[in-house]
Amino acid sequence: SDSVNIAIDGPAGAGKSTVAKLVSEELGFLYIDTGAMYRALTLAAIRENVNTLNERDLSELLSQCRIQLLVDQNGSRVLLNDKDVTTDIRSDEVNKAVSLVSSYQSVREEMVERQRQLASITNSVLDGRDIGTFVLPNARLKVFLTATVTERARRRHEEQLSKGMPSDYEQLQADIAKRDELDSTRAFAPLKKAEDAVEIDTTTLSIAEVAQAITDLAKERT
Ligand code: C5P
Repeated sequence: SDSVNIAIDGPAGAGKSTVAKLVSEELGFLYIDTGAMYRALTLAAIRENVNTLNERDLSELLSQCRIQLLVDQNGSRVLLNDKDVTTDIRSDEVNKAVSLVSSYQSVREEMVERQRQLASITNSVLDGRDIGTFVLPNARLKVFLTATVTERARRRHEEQLSKGMPSDYEQLQADIAKRDELDSTRAFAPLKKAEDAVEIDTTTLSIAEVAQAITDLAKERT
């Protein structure tokens, strides 16, 4: 296809979504938050009491889930079967179950098909774990964002507190480390830097600096 795609991968809390949003706005591209898609399915499973240990039931559930990512005056929103789940997909319950749900091959194949479809029709910035390695191996630009676990937990902690939500820093650190471990060691399309990805360690960089660096790289290649 003719559309230009930018892949931003990396572990939880490296700043992918914030940066991907800024870069997409700057370039006039669509932002596709693939994590939100796995989160929406996870939320559906929790709500419908679908056993997250059962791959077939999850796949079946996914076939009935319409997941939409849209941007309007309220910012980026996620709809699950036409209902707004933007906030609900960020709950602790979803955080804890999402890596298991997204570990299943049949679930990933369906999600990846949806992501490729979206990316093929629009210039877009996708963030996730496997965009550069698996979803879009021919992306125009691939970025791998990292930061230390301590720094990523600190960012999440500040984010929670700024929203007036309760937050336990030690717990966040443990949860992030656990999610990294599950995402990096799963059999199918694990979290991994693509060989041709540009790695950016964001530990000591601001969001604006990271977004600028990626936008510059993207402009050089378009
Ligand atoms: O990016 P975010 O932290 O919202 O993603 C939530 C979870 O969804 C990740 O921890 C990972 O388990 C899964 N995920 C994935 N592949 C993607 C995006 C997210 O497996 N492309």
